[in-house]
Formats: sequence, C-alpha cells, structure tokens
Amino acid sequence: MNHLLDIASLSVTEIESLLEKAFAFKEERNKPLLSYHGHRLATLFYENSTRTRVSFQIAAERLQLPVTDINLTHSSEKKGEIIEDTIRTLAMMGIDLFVLRHHQDKLPHALAEVLPGNIHIINAGDGMHAHPSQALLDLMTIREYKKDLSAAKITIIGNIRHSRVANSLQVLFAKMKVQELVMVAPPIWQPEQIHCGRVTSSLDEGLQDADVVICLRVQKERFLANESFDLPSYRHEYTLTPERFQKAKINAVIMHPGPVNRNVEIEDTLVDSNHSLILRQVENGVFMRMAILDEIVGGIV
Ligand code: NCD
Repeated sequence: MNHLLDIASLSVTEIESLLEKAFAFKEERNKPLLSYHGHRLATLFYENSTRTRVSFQIAAERLQLPVTDINLTHSSEKKGEIIEDTIRTLAMMGIDLFVLRHHQDKLPHALAEVLPGNIHIINAGDGMHAHPSQALLDLMTIREYKKDLSAAKITIIGNIRHSRVANSLQVLFAKMKVQELVMVAPPIWQPEQIHCGRVTSSLDEGLQDADVVICLRVQKERFLANESFDLPSYRHEYTLTPERFQKAKINAVIMHPGPVNRNVEIEDTLVDSNHSLILRQVENGVFMRMAILDEIVGGIV
C-alpha cells in the first residue's frame, strides 16, 4: 500500500490484511518493526479534529515512528504557500508520511498524483468525500462484535449526504458484502449517490431488527447556506432514544464516529449504556491506524 486515499482503492484482501494486523497489534502479537527507522510522519489538519489527529499521533508513537504535528495557524500557507509546496518542503526535512485532513474533496488524490513517489499520503478526511481510516476502525469494531458480516443488518442514521464517514462506510460495506445496509435520513440529507444499501426517511422502519446502529453527527458546518435545519423537529424524528432502539435486535450495538452531540443524535442514557461501542471505536482507532502505517512503511522498498 503506497497511500491510503479512500476505501474504493483497497482490495478485499488488503482490507482483511489491515484488520488482521490491527487485531494483532491489539493483542500485542505484533511488535513494532525496526524498519520504521528513517521514516517520519507529519499530521497536517486543515479542519478541526481531536480523535483522528491524536489517534494517528499515538499510533505512530507506538510504532516508534517520529511524529511532527504541523501547526497550521503558524504555517507558511498563511503567507500564500500552496499545500503542494508545503509538503515538498517538509519532505526535504525527512518527512515521508503525511496524514492530511482538508475541506477539499479528493485533494489527497490530486496530491498523490503530482508528488514524488517517496511521499505517502494518508487521507484523514477530505471534504464530504472519504474518511477511510474511520470506516476501517468501524469495521474492526463491528467484527469484534459480529464476525459474520453476511448476517449483519446495519443501520446508519443522520446526515448521510454530507458525511464522508457514511460515504466510506457504504463503499466498505459493499466490498465486505454485509447482509443489509439501511440509511435513515430526512429527505434533505439523503445521499445523491448510493454505493450500497437503501435509504428511508422512517427511523422505525430502518431500525427494525438492526444488529448495528451507527449514528452520525449533525454537521452544522457542512450545511449549504440555503439549507434550513430545524433542530427540534430533527430531534423529534431522529434522535435515537431507548424506546426507538427497542426496534433493533435485543443485543444490538450503537456506534458513532464522534464527536457526539448528546441528546441530538443519541439520547444520553444510550451513549453511556452497555450497548454503546463509541469508546471501543476510539480504542480500536489507534490499532487500525498502527496497521495502516505499518502496511505503508512495510511496503516501502
Ligand atoms: C468525523 C469527521 O471528521 O469526518 N469525525 C471523526 O473523524 N471522528 C465525523 C464528524 O466530524 O462528524
């Protein structure tokens, strides 16, 4: 693996190998390789992030891979430097792995095309397009709970249209052949393009017999200027409450990529209930990101 740009570019074999590696790191079956020597990673985040940025940093540290967090408020891009030049400059100082989050769709793809082959780009979220490491850690978390995806009904609730997480999950669930994927959203948030599953605006219908329920954040920063959003009516129809959750299977689990707006996407009591895998996702994120870095560095010749 040379870069991690999106889920679509991964084969099922590569996905399985990342899962296997991530579980091995979790069970401490895999010790860090000495071959990280000579490599260095930078986190370049042009959008807010707590868990993804820190998770990549901790993953790198656990592999003994040196990390530099680029502070963009003080960077030369404020002086007009283009991102491609920033990366080329940092590469000359010995950084070869770049974890990038940016508001522009497919910017990681464009950079991977033009930058020299010894620079590796890891997409940590590009606009509304993709968030592959999040989808992979979600898959790892689902697998821990339900091994056989071909017998799993998964329901994703919320702002599907603006969600790079939902996009990557759809592509991943199609590749991994989940039994059923239902996306629940009010009409204004239904996706323009569907990669997997079906869409409904009825939460009760979507939740029926679900094994896994994934709630997405209400992303106010991604609404278009002309979109109106009425929070009380959203909560009335789409907040996951204990009562509504009863429609799902008895041992169903709840996930959320975070950050959670409590009582908007999920009612407080469910966030903290033993159905919730939200903190497990965060824990697994470090192991999946170790696997991603290991796969890329291991492939460098
Ligand atoms: C997601 C993101 O930034 O795309 N968060 C994350 O990475 N854990 C989802 C979100 O911000 O709603």
